Amino acid sequence: MTVEVVVVGSANADVVVRVERRPGPGETVLGSDTVLAAGGKGANAAVAAALQEARVALLGAVGDDQHGELLRESMSGAGVQLDLVRTTDRPTGAAYITVTPDGENTIVVSPGANSAVDVDQVEAAKDVIAGAKVLLASLEVPLPAIERAVALANEAGTRAVLNLSPVAKLSRQTLAALDPLVVNEHEAQWLMDGATDLTKLLDLGPKSAVVTLGSRGALVIEKHGTTEVESPRVTAVDTTGAGDAFVGALITQLAAGDDLAAAARRAVRVAAVSVTRPGAQASYPTRGEVDSARGMV
Ligand code: RIB
Ligand code: NA
Repeated sequence: MTVEVVVVGSANADVVVRVERRPGPGETVLGSDTVLAAGGKGANAAVAAALQEARVALLGAVGDDQHGELLRESMSGAGVQLDLVRTTDRPTGAAYITVTPDGENTIVVSPGANSAVDVDQVEAAKDVIAGAKVLLASLEVPLPAIERAVALANEAGTRAVLNLSPVAKLSRQTLAALDPLVVNEHEAQWLMDGATDLTKLLDLGPKSAVVTLGSRGALVIEKHGTTEVESPRVTAVDTTGAGDAFVGALITQLAAGDDLAAAARRAVRVAAVSVTRPGAQASYPTRGEVDSARGMV
């Protein structure tokens, strides 16, 4: 199998309920009907990349259950290669998501099968990683597998991109291999112990960094300077998975030869379309949709 992009990350069934407001401790609130949808930061980014027409494989794990089927169908329907997805005896990962009227969400993830992604599975994909242009990792699978994947990519000259979501402490060596490290503002603050000058992210070692700023777009931080990338204005319905849409589009453009700022300019538009529609994978636009939305987003 040859692909341009390998994504190492999670696949989750998203169990979504819309609420007027979230309950506090010991409180009960009523919400909408439940929506079950394909999600997970890894699967989401892979689907976003496939819809932007990258040849992409997910390296991950699901359970032998209905949620696993849901994910396989959503990913293969979008064109994601599934040869590196293992079926394990743990249940497919699940994410319990609340969405409020402003489009914001909270998420509790039960990793399940995602916890089974290990160094051996990554080693077995060594040649696929070496043959790809870009490797993307996100952190709902165990850190040793991620760090090994980044190291293999680095040795082979495959560009390594990491979305530090959820936050985790990376080794200096892993950080140094990233081009770029992608974080949101909260993750950036966490990494920098509350320091506010985002250009200091490069002091942690990555070759470049991208900070996603939600509706304000993104900041591309490179050694030779920082580029502000503005997001088109849209009305947010559901921001779940917008960051994954961003990185999926970003790696597609990087694999196609764009420079980082150009890739980020395209990626903010893909993410902007995604927040105008409910759900994660189900809300991602095709390449043609993004092109025809030019001017609007
Ligand atoms: O980034 C959004 C994703 O986070 C959801 O799809 C959920 O599965 C969690 O992984
Ligand atoms: Na969405």
